Amino acid sequence: MIPSSALPRTVTVRAPAKINCELRVGGLRRDGYHELSTVFMAVGLYDEVTVTRSPSWEVTTTGRYAALVPDGADNLALRAARVLASTMKAEPIPVSIRIDKEIPVAGGMAGGSADAAAALLACDALWGLRCDREQLLELAADVGSDVPFSLAGGIAVGSGRGERLAPVLAKGTFHWVFVVSSEGLSTPSVFAECDRLRADADADADADRPAPGPSSAVMTALRSGDPEALGKALANDLQTAALSLRPALRTVLDAGVEFGALGAIVSGSGPTIAFLTGSPEHALDLCVSLAASGVADEVTRAKGPVHGAHFIAVPSRV
Ligand code: C5P
Repeated sequence: MIPSSALPRTVTVRAPAKINCELRVGGLRRDGYHELSTVFMAVGLYDEVTVTRSPSWEVTTTGRYAALVPDGADNLALRAARVLASTMKAEPIPVSIRIDKEIPVAGGMAGGSADAAAALLACDALWGLRCDREQLLELAADVGSDVPFSLAGGIAVGSGRGERLAPVLAKGTFHWVFVVSSEGLSTPSVFAECDRLRADADADADADRPAPGPSSAVMTALRSGDPEALGKALANDLQTAALSLRPALRTVLDAGVEFGALGAIVSGSGPTIAFLTGSPEHALDLCVSLAASGVADEVTRAKGPVHGAHFIAVPSRV
């Protein structure tokens, strides 16, 4: 254990958003989760989480989406810090958590998971716990299915409920454009709608549904760094459910394709829509066209893959 006089007083960690290049949803498990196969890519939209020793536990939020972030027990960063403290039997030094929020909230881009991953890494340093990577990944999975990937970053296949990761070899950089909705979608509602639509289509299908796996089309496109091939291979089994709950998203998807996107997809459980382009210039052109067309509430762009959660402020000593 590091003496407390040698520990930092405050630590800042930055964590990226993600997009699912492929999201295959298998059967509903007994624990209420679905068996998944997904190909995650971390993209360069970031939340910054600063943890500081404090007389009491608290969360404050700044940034573009500050007003939409849940506080109290529903906040994933706070939950992650408490899970770390109780699992590592750390002395309960309370922390104040400040989240600078630039990832859309409830948008299907794992913003809450990014905050949780950042809080784990930051509190580990603040409390001098020195957890190894495997321990942090295990704790991350306890907090949420996407949290391990927010720690790992890059490109990875997620299986199980999305928390078991295998890195993917990939070449080059991919340029994405995102259309963000002003109102989020709840992930459990989108999974439930997926189940409902499947049950309507075929009541017996779930029992026989095989465990999903990544497609060779996506893996080959990533390995060869080919945005045209990746654009064609993008696939999301939650897309029909997200469109069923938010039919207006169809207009956004169609507009992006019409303006020349190489591929268009609902990001995770939505409602953010992700478009793949071939270059930074192409991404900028698409942003301008989408914004000018009036179909988009808000347009932004980012490239991927990028690193997972990482320190950005050199810890200051007590
Ligand atoms: O793991 P996480 O808390 O992020 O999941 C949020 C919700 O999303 C779950 O409660 C569940 O309703 C749904 N989910 C699912 N299958 C998964 C991951 C998430 O049904 N593999």
